[in-house]
Amino acid sequence: MHAGKNEVVLVGPSKPVIAKGLAGFTVHSLPAGVTGKTLPAALGQVRGMVVTGAPELIGEAWFARFPKLEIISHFGVGYDRVDAVAAAKHGVIVTNTPEVLTEEVADTALGLLISTVREFPQAERHVRAGRWLHQGYPLSKATLRNRTVGMVGMGAIGQAIARRLDAFGVPVVYHTRKPRSELAYRYYASLIDMAGDVDTLMVIVPGGPATRNMINAEVLEALGPDGIVINMARGSVVDERALIKALAEKRILSAGLDVYVNEPDVPQQLIELDNVVLLPHLGSASIYTREKMDQLVVDNILAWAADQPPLTPVVETPWRSWAKA
Ligand code: 8YV
Repeated sequence: MHAGKNEVVLVGPSKPVIAKGLAGFTVHSLPAGVTGKTLPAALGQVRGMVVTGAPELIGEAWFARFPKLEIISHFGVGYDRVDAVAAAKHGVIVTNTPEVLTEEVADTALGLLISTVREFPQAERHVRAGRWLHQGYPLSKATLRNRTVGMVGMGAIGQAIARRLDAFGVPVVYHTRKPRSELAYRYYASLIDMAGDVDTLMVIVPGGPATRNMINAEVLEALGPDGIVINMARGSVVDERALIKALAEKRILSAGLDVYVNEPDVPQQLIELDNVVLLPHLGSASIYTREKMDQLVVDNILAWAADQPPLTPVVETPWRSWAKA
């Protein structure tokens, strides 16, 4: 291990794979809820950071406190809790955990889609409440059989979802900033136009300022009264108030949500609505996949410590060398 690369700051909870993988390092766990303003000054010389759960955006205040920082090894494919542009400016490489979770999140997306379309959670509640004894559960208002899914985002996970929909015989179209010429699906440059043509939106874009409130009242209106929205991305991508209003006023049919604006605080209005299926952000949440993600977090730190290139740097912080600019 290279000198000075034998200690890291851990932001967020430790986990067995991470603790085992970093056994050779001194790991400084930050107290829960610490913010840029309350960061302990004593750790200012540390050059490596592991983030398993950020209490706030890791931005300028953090980079000012850790002037020697070289790597942030971030758990999760989405890294909207790290200001990667600021990281690049400060010569810090950010890594994430792509690929190892792609198929798991796509599985969850299909589960949530089918649960929402065919009302499985509502039907399950019907059985548990003993209501079946008196009345069968009504036929589901929706079916996948006559739907077209408009993908909002078509990265690796979006494509894995689309492949599953192909196998289900469900037509797929997509909206992204730029068309992907290698894909055979119909492309829409305009999200509103796509929402007007389809009845189901599958949201799987990165979070952050560029996609904030992308699914707004206008998009929901274009989707129409048979519309179903599935959000597997980030709560910030959907205007939550507009969604609640559209669901309550039946301006769309239903929604399936894995993510929320202020997790784990789910708005009471959503909890009270029956035409929404709510999951507690578990897209990648199996022991199997989470351990693979944890291992990738560790492997990026081990690469840095051995002066080797990082395995999965994010696009904003391409690696050239570990020397700080
Ligand atoms: C993580 C996710 O579980 O990878 C992501 O971006 O959303 C999930 O797989 C999440 O980041 C945990 O906070």
